[in-house]
Formats: sequence, structure tokens, C-alpha cells
Amino acid sequence: MSIEDLESVAQAMVAPGKGIIAIDESTNTIRKRLEAVGVENTEEHRRAYREMLLTTPDLSDHISGAILYDETIRQSTREGVPFTKVMRDAGIIPGIKVDKGAKPLAGFPGELVTEGLDGLRDRLAEYVKFGAQFAKWRAVITIGDDTPSSTCIEANCHALARYAALCQEAGLVPMVEPEVLMDGNHDIDLCYEVTEATLRSLFGALYEQNVMLEGTILKASMVISGKGCPDQASRDEVADATVRCLKSTVPAILPGIVFLSGGQSDEDATAHLNAINQLGPHPWPLSFSYGRAMQQAALKLWGDDMHGNYVESQRTVAQRARENGLAALGQWEG
Ligand code: 13P
Repeated sequence: MSIEDLESVAQAMVAPGKGIIAIDESTNTIRKRLEAVGVENTEEHRRAYREMLLTTPDLSDHISGAILYDETIRQSTREGVPFTKVMRDAGIIPGIKVDKGAKPLAGFPGELVTEGLDGLRDRLAEYVKFGAQFAKWRAVITIGDDTPSSTCIEANCHALARYAALCQEAGLVPMVEPEVLMDGNHDIDLCYEVTEATLRSLFGALYEQNVMLEGTILKASMVISGKGCPDQASRDEVADATVRCLKSTVPAILPGIVFLSGGQSDEDATAHLNAINQLGPHPWPLSFSYGRAMQQAALKLWGDDMHGNYVESQRTVAQRARENGLAALGQWEG
């Protein structure tokens, strides 16, 4: 795939008023989500749940792409239609999570480094055959008393850049995700500092690895107060700090930035995105790649009654897509 092709996929991912639905929970993470709504974590339940999401009528009105997990990209609807075909027919770009998870960083207690580079070239080639057009790798940066260390930031950004280069070689748009966690008591100023240092390191590493920014998407965390911080920044403060931090670190040539929801409530995730876009115009489209903030309401309904609430669950997903799509334009009215 040429750089022009990568660029046009990246641009389609952040088309005006559209964002991404992240349904790439690992088997362990989806277990927690399913068990929280009283559903047993079986392969069939995971498949059925993802079928409900991916076959939501008119999902592509506000959803440009979906990030799948390794198991999901191999699965099909009950009628036997591969999920990737369902997506292509609906105009939704298939994406795939390709990292192998965040593991303890040796020598740095409390910090994590994401694994998965070994054998990645071969795995990417397989995902391309399945129809994937973009890939995601998530690094996790934890704010604590003495963290993050520069070693942790650099190790994670180096891995993100190595992954991104392999993606582009394989013809996939890399979605690079350095998530600064909301867990902790830190205030928004410390989140700003850590996010700024992380993004500076990331774009340095991408440059070192010859990654073409024109064919890359950033998945960012918002600059926000830690969950346990007694002084929670307002929505306008979050929007302002997030935009300032991105403008000071992210090259304008990048085709787009999408946010993760990271444990924010549905309403906060949408309101923050909307406030961010109301501060525009910005150098790049700023949209969403939400997991929990797209799914949690629908998952609860589906968990209560998989068959009886099927249509209502899909309506709820479509509604969240519509609200976040409006927020990506700064046009959400609450
Ligand atoms: P959340 O929006 O639930 O944070 O998930 C997005 C994601 O893909 C994290 O890697």
C-alpha cells in the first residue's frame, strides 16, 4: 500500500462527524465487562455480543471504523458471514488490536511496558488477509508518587514507533495509543506534564523509526484530573488543557487524533469531546475511539436480556455513536 493509500484510510477514519468504536477488549477484559452484567464469559457470548454491536443498523452514519480483537476478527455472524465482511458491506473500516498487553517493566515497580513486537510482522500479514486496514497498540503510562519514569516513557514510545513502522510496511494505518491513566490522586496539571512528556517522546520515536505521520492516527487520553483527585477540573478546563497539550506536541501533518474514554462517564466523554471541538478549528480532526463510553449502556441492556433487549441495545449503541459524532463536530447539545 502506498503512503497515499495509508493517508486516505487515515482520513476516512476521522471523517467529519465520525469516530471509532473500540471493541478490542482482550478475553480477560471482556470477561470483567460481561461478568459485571451477569453474563458468562464464553466464546459464544463474546461472539453474540460483538455481532449485536457490529450489526447495529446505520452504525456507519457516525462510526468510521471498529477495532477488533484477535478472536473477533476470525468470527462470523450466526448466519456465518465473517464480521469483516459485515463491516465492509456497512462501510465500517476493520481495525485490529495487535499488542500483547501491558506487562510489568522489570526494574521499575508499578510501571508497565507493552509487549508484542516479536513475530509482529507475520501477525500483521495475517490480519491484512482478514481485511484489516488499521491496527492499534496501547501503551500504558501510570501516574504515581515517583512515576512515570523517563525509562518507562521511552521504552513504551520506542515500542509504539517500532510497531507503527511495521504496520506501515504491511499496509496498515497505525493507531498509536499512549494512554496516561486516570487512576490516581494527581491533579490536571500533573496529567498535563506527563501527557506532554509522553507525546514529545512518542513523536521523537516515530521520527527515529521513519514512520510517516501522514499515514498515522494518534489515540490520545485527555488531559484530566486523576479519578481520586479531590479537586476535579471542570469540563472547560479539561478541554482547554487537552487542546493546549496536543498543540504543543503533535505535528499538524498528522491526519487526526481520536480520544479514548479511559473510565470517564458516557456523558463526560461526550461533553469533553464537544467542548474540545468548540475550541476549534484545530490543526487536525479531533474525534473519538471510545470503548466503554460507546458500549456500557448497551452492554447493560444486552446483559439484562440478550434476546428481548436486542433491538434496544442496538438503538443505544446508535444513539451513543450519534452523540459522539455530534461532539466530534462541536455540535452536541446535551
Ligand atoms: P476506553 O474508551 O474504554 O478507554 O477504551 C478505548 C481503548 O481502546 C483502550 O485501549
